[in-house]
Amino acid sequence: MDGMSSISHIAKKLEGKVAIITGGASGFGETTARLFVQHGAKVIIADVQDEKGISLCYDIISSTNNNNNNTSNKEIISYVHCNISDETNVKTLVDEAIAKHGKLDIMFNNAGIPGDVDPTIEGSTIENFKKVFNVNVLGGFLGAKHAARVMTPRKSGVILFTASIASLVAGESPHAYTMSKHAIIGLMKNLCVEMGQYGIRVNAISPCGISTPLLSNALGMDKASVDDLICESAVLKGVAPNALDVANAALFLASDEAKFVSGINFAIDGGYSVTNPSFSMALKNLLA
Ligand SMILES: NC(=O)c1ccc[n+]([C@@H]2O[C@H](COP(=O)([O-])OP(=O)(O)OC[C@H]3O[C@@H](n4cnc5c(N)ncnc54)[C@H](O)[C@@H]3O)[C@@H](O)[C@H]2O)c1
Repeated sequence: MDGMSSISHIAKKLEGKVAIITGGASGFGETTARLFVQHGAKVIIADVQDEKGISLCYDIISSTNNNNNNTSNKEIISYVHCNISDETNVKTLVDEAIAKHGKLDIMFNNAGIPGDVDPTIEGSTIENFKKVFNVNVLGGFLGAKHAARVMTPRKSGVILFTASIASLVAGESPHAYTMSKHAIIGLMKNLCVEMGQYGIRVNAISPCGISTPLLSNALGMDKASVDDLICESAVLKGVAPNALDVANAALFLASDEAKFVSGINFAIDGGYSVTNPSFSMALKNLLA
């Protein structure tokens, strides 16, 4: 992974922490799992892609053993099949974290789906609405509910959500997806207030488009074309965003460095959400 090779030389930010990452088999979740382990956390990947999740665990275990020249340590990463829309699955996931590690410090509610890509209200279906809300909203809600169940008695913990730039900028994503990401920010803010009395911090991360399997599949484009498109539309030039940018935000928010940070929607978008270029684009076209 780019930018991760020298981590053994710097301070580990999550030493002794236990983290669950939903959607941890792919994209942002996968990169965050690798980074959290490198920073000393014990990570449980929760996903529905069993083969990918299990092979990621083997990969992380073998690279950790190689780096440390150490004995095998299967405690650092494990995989649990969990459909986040199913409360029994989510309850079992959290209970397994407690059974295995005795506590849960970080719940990263990251799994999500884009749903149908038709941007029109007339083209939107109830089936798609329910499918997107079941994963993106109910899934995040259940993850937070069961994390709070075990964090509250310990008066400690961090709950994170992956929202999206769609929670900040309108008109660029389908309705159900946009609504789902606004909903998760509502939950994040409400929870920030409720959980504050127990010392539990609650935050969200809102990435712009970044080439993961989710975005490539949704756009029907390969990774290089998605990267080109993102760089072309970016406000911040000269750098291309990647999954590690999101993982680094999660690392900061999960770590004690962010000990007084709660209730924020942290945009990882190179400034995309603070502007609206439509006037200057229209002017440019007029003068062309
Ligand atoms: N990639 C982007 O451009 C982008 C931008 C903004 C926000 N996001 C959000 O980031 C999060 C992660 O997406 P990604 O881009 O890494 O995509 P991804 O498809 O690479 O990873 C998402 C993972 O979630 C898992 N998942 C889906 N439904 C699930 C369910 N019901 N239960 C458990 N796991 C489930 C998938 O199997 C997959 O492994 C999502 O919430 C997405 O909405 C992505």
